[in-house]
Amino acid sequence: MASISLEGVAKVYPNGFEAVKGLDLEIADGELMVVVGPSGCGKTTVLRMVAGLEHVSAGLVRFGEEVVNDLPSRERDVAMVFQNYALYPQMNVADNIGFGLRMRKVSKQEAGRRVKQAAQALGLAEVLDRRPGQLSGGQRQRVAMGRAIVREPSIFLMDEPLSNLDAKLRVQMRAEVARVQRRIGVATIYVTHDQTEAMTLGHRVAVMRGGLLQQCDTPQILYDRPANLFVAGFIGSPAMNLFEGAIATDVETVVLGSQRIPLTASVQAARPGLKRYTDQPVVVGIRPEDLPAANGSDSGAVLQGDVELVEALGSEQLVHFRTDARMIRAEALDSADGAAGTELSADANVARVDPRHSVSSGERISFALATERIEFFDPHTGLAIWN
Ligand SMILES: Nc1ncnc2c1ncn2[C@@H]1O[C@H](COP(=O)(O)OP(=O)(O)OP(=O)(O)O)[C@@H](O)[C@H]1O
Ligand SMILES: [Mg+2]
Repeated sequence: MASISLEGVAKVYPNGFEAVKGLDLEIADGELMVVVGPSGCGKTTVLRMVAGLEHVSAGLVRFGEEVVNDLPSRERDVAMVFQNYALYPQMNVADNIGFGLRMRKVSKQEAGRRVKQAAQALGLAEVLDRRPGQLSGGQRQRVAMGRAIVREPSIFLMDEPLSNLDAKLRVQMRAEVARVQRRIGVATIYVTHDQTEAMTLGHRVAVMRGGLLQQCDTPQILYDRPANLFVAGFIGSPAMNLFEGAIATDVETVVLGSQRIPLTASVQAARPGLKRYTDQPVVVGIRPEDLPAANGSDSGAVLQGDVELVEALGSEQLVHFRTDARMIRAEALDSADGAAGTELSADANVARVDPRHSVSSGERISFALATERIEFFDPHTGLAIWN
């Protein structure tokens, strides 16, 4: 059992490309840390450095107190499950799971015990005699996980292990991964580019972009208090609506296009930093669920929009709407230059509205805006404005 600690870890590939920059990350013993971010942000590189498959260019990797920078991979007691796991097609499930144990000279009896236990935990007890070709995709994935957990590693690393599965199986396996991780109780790093997977699975989630850690915290805090525009746009589906706005002279109003939205004293008290932005542009972020349709008797802040499209999902309706405030597209933040995006988007904003509220495209709609849930960001640095 061990914790993992990365201190100022960087990776420069031989061609000079800096894939990971000054990464600080602590994973407690037993913790499931998810590393999430768009393709190419350095997730796999981080895992490979922890596994010892890739040399660390700068910084320290520790398991517990021990610095392992120069410890060869085979001496690290780390098990890894990859996206493209390979099973031996001629071997049955039991032999596939136990393969690594034979290599490690674990006694036959002990190996048999561990394989049986892993198969039980993973729901594979009934198929131990089958060959990989006779298994479903989800079962094959579980065999790959079984092979990793029978080693009883002190650290568990998973790199997009579910991305080959269809959507439904992925959801099932997600729960299974969480269960297995809890049962084996070792420090785990799980890499994915899927924010839903990250949010549902991680005890904590580290969001990366362009080799840099953006924020690392519990899923709820990432959602409620994103540190910057990138995290705000990346976490949550449908994504947070981002508008170009301005703070009026008295800090009591935020201006969104032609609309003026009063900010309560508690909002101002919670974000004293807004004072620095009087008469200045800010980016205003509003989550789709913080825009319920106003019912006429509401006395609080209201945002109006023109409905472009309504998607009825049964449990809710997604109302796509426009205002005359400039929209900021979260994806624009994905561009390599690292600056906050200010591109106009062709897409509309989205609100989650009660399915029983009658609304159709072409209408004007009023939303009852929960102003204490609005996020504010600096348009130049992209950082959230709090203090
Ligand atoms: N051996 C290498 N030499 C040079 N550059 C590399 C090498 N391996 C990876 N890279 C680059 O480093 C960056 C990070 O790669 P990495 O595989 O860690 O990304 P990732 O976040 O895992 O992406 P994905 O979600 O697509 O798997 C990418 O830009 C990639 O092109
Ligand atoms: Mg990868």
